[in-house]
Amino acid sequence: MTGDIIGDSGVALLKRHLPGLIKDYAAECVIVNGENSATNGRGITPAVADSLFQSGVHVITGGNHSWGQKTIYNYITTQPNLLRPANYPGKCPGSGHTIVTVNGYKLAVVNIQGRVFMRELLDCPFKTMETLLTYLRAQVNMILVDFHAEATAEKVGMGFFLDGKVSALVGTHTHIQTADARILSKGTAYISDLGMCGALDSMIGMKTDVMLNHMRTQLPAKFEVEPNPPYILCGVCIEVDTETGSALSIQPIQIEDPNLVL
Ligand SMILES: [Fe+2]
Ligand SMILES: [Fe+2]
Repeated sequence: MTGDIIGDSGVALLKRHLPGLIKDYAAECVIVNGENSATNGRGITPAVADSLFQSGVHVITGGNHSWGQKTIYNYITTQPNLLRPANYPGKCPGSGHTIVTVNGYKLAVVNIQGRVFMRELLDCPFKTMETLLTYLRAQVNMILVDFHAEATAEKVGMGFFLDGKVSALVGTHTHIQTADARILSKGTAYISDLGMCGALDSMIGMKTDVMLNHMRTQLPAKFEVEPNPPYILCGVCIEVDTETGSALSIQPIQIEDPNLVL
């Protein structure tokens, strides 16, 4: 799984490296967070989602930017493997979980969003997970959860809450990979944040000058995707025991690409 894909360059970066990554890690299932993969970094379009699925991605997760492109509102109701956080109001289009079958094995993928330092007023992510797990664990023993959240404490807390109940709990949203990938004591693979696929010399994928000026002046600003190299692709490879659903290993991945031609 990779973290948030940022803009056109992030999409191109992922497509360039995915075949090699699948081969090198013998990856059977590919999951990406696509909440910033539209050209302007806000949301995802049907065209980008289709192209990611065609490139070998099985499931695309989302986050607070899932609704950035209006064209996705209808598309998400027709594509079960494009997720939005499960704890958004039930009236929102789309779903927060899916079950995919890969090489004969069933894997559930869940997307939820945190509430600490996040603007949206969402249902309790812990309660949402509790409800979803009673339903999912009756059907599958391999479950990956993308917890899209800001605060590391909330993410670590969710890790301990879900330890032994899911195969993996990975964080997204902060766009910076954390150095805490490990298997928790009851067998759940954990990392606070996967990092991003985007421009390395940027502020979380956005142009530094614009965002820095906003931080220094507090004047309104329109953040723009940083299109220039070098780029970085961040994610993890997780190995899961198909019999027990427990994680066997979690390996962080970071690939720097100095010369991607868009
Ligand atoms: Fe993001
Ligand atoms: Fe986000």
